[in-house]
Amino acid sequence: MTAAHPDLRFSFSRPGFVTFKQENADEAFPEIPAPVFVRLWGESVAQARSAEEIPQLAALIPPEAVVRAFDRDQYVPGEEPDDWTRGRGIAATGGLPTATEREPRPGEAVYDLIWIDERHVFLGRHVHTDRLSPAAGNIPPLAVPEHSPSRAWLKIEEAILRFRPVMQPGWTALEIGCAPGGASTALIDRGFSVTGIDPQFMADSVMASGKFNHIRKPARFVTPEDLANVNPDWIVMDMSIPPEDALGELSHVVKTLRDVHGKKLATRRGFLTIKLNDWKYAERVSDYLSRLRKIGFEEAQATQLAYNRREFFVYSPKFKI
Ligand SMILES: C[S@@+](CC[C@H](N)C(=O)[O-])C[C@H]1O[C@@H](n2cnc3c(N)ncnc32)[C@H](O)[C@@H]1O
Repeated sequence: MTAAHPDLRFSFSRPGFVTFKQENADEAFPEIPAPVFVRLWGESVAQARSAEEIPQLAALIPPEAVVRAFDRDQYVPGEEPDDWTRGRGIAATGGLPTATEREPRPGEAVYDLIWIDERHVFLGRHVHTDRLSPAAGNIPPLAVPEHSPSRAWLKIEEAILRFRPVMQPGWTALEIGCAPGGASTALIDRGFSVTGIDPQFMADSVMASGKFNHIRKPARFVTPEDLANVNPDWIVMDMSIPPEDALGELSHVVKTLRDVHGKKLATRRGFLTIKLNDWKYAERVSDYLSRLRKIGFEEAQATQLAYNRREFFVYSPKFKI
């Protein structure tokens, strides 16, 4: 942020919540052009620094405004304690208005009451866009269904909610790094047939679905024979290997698909998770995006989904045949 906006000064911050001060208050509110690791951002309207000040924030919210109330992120997704529930910090704070039910329209200001800790609550304001979930904190309320063998179900479902891709029953997806099968479960439930590439075993529920075909090997060893009958509408990737290796293996699979299907390749979208096995890789996001565009994933855009862990997500709405 400070590299892009040298006039900003790092200010009150806690894990999962950062603020910056603008040197010159008259200047326009700075935009973040392509935020990857920022899920929601906006202008700070006011802050309460003690429990007594918290009710005063309510008076600053215009009467008809859409209000969302949520807690700062305190845990890595998937590492929350058993007794934790989302939003319990803000819910325990007295004197604040409850969130409105109404969904914001694109372009409309949303007032965010953000619980930081027992003493601090911030009131912020962000502009809603059709790329944001209308849910509090841009976190779609999703829960892994019992029949899903992994929490990776959340990521593909969140991506579908966020990017709203066209889907037709009977389409096929190729998933690279598919075991044990959370994302495959979500796709099969949405009417897809799935071919998955992974040396690990799939959950019995996925294998028994009648909609799943397993290529049980690392992606780099996939052959034209493996993909002779696989012409995927979507390519999904979620391999637990460093980014450069994952992009190398993805590139091999795409080349093999092109060799097999040529101009008849049906691929139109990419849903790609890139693991940040080391945080140093976060600096190279734009290099990874350039490489993905070269592989064929046009207009690839990176964002860290609410249900991503130490990884980020790339959505590509267009594939170059
Ligand atoms: C996070 S898990 C995938 C979760 C899965 N997408 C789901 O929905 O349940 C990562 C997977 O990547 C697989 N993997 C690692 N290296 C791979 C490779 N070279 N080719 C294919 N899969 C690989 C692992 O075996 C592991 O099952």
